[in-house]
Amino acid sequence: MISEKLLKALNEQINKEWWSASIYKAMAAYCEAEDLPGFANWFNVQTLEELTHGQRIFDFICEAGERVELYPMEGPKNDYDSPLDAFTYGLEHEKLVTSLINNLMTIAKEEKDHAAEIMLQWFVTEQVEEEASFGLIKKKLERIGDDGRGILMLDDELASRVFTPPTPA
Ligand code: FEO
Repeated sequence: MISEKLLKALNEQINKEWWSASIYKAMAAYCEAEDLPGFANWFNVQTLEELTHGQRIFDFICEAGERVELYPMEGPKNDYDSPLDAFTYGLEHEKLVTSLINNLMTIAKEEKDHAAEIMLQWFVTEQVEEEASFGLIKKKLERIGDDGRGILMLDDELASRVFTPPTPA
């Protein structure tokens, strides 16, 4: 059984994860329009990851015999000035998600829901990786600046990212 307070917060987090998926899909669309297929690939993989994040919480709620509820979702930002602008926005978004996960963990502890704490521990670790991967690419883009050749080299690098389905919870 999941407490009412925690269940509401978990359902809201599903919404935030799938909102994240829509944000990164919009970034992929922006990169496609800018003829940067490697960047677009990176964001497409990120989109798939975010979908699995939401699914992980979805499954946890169902396995606990509780009811998933989906809420209206905020629309994504579609326009960016540059790949650096997209990664800067993405990093700030991931910091927001980290704060939401930390808040969820606090609620799980207050409600003494140890199963939820264990499930959320995966997200705590994942958010460290998420911020690091956005931060690293943002730094590379800052170093590249307006060097078109550098952007194309990074585009080649990001084309190699593949989606690896996470191990089941
Ligand atoms: Fe699901 Fe990028 O955090």
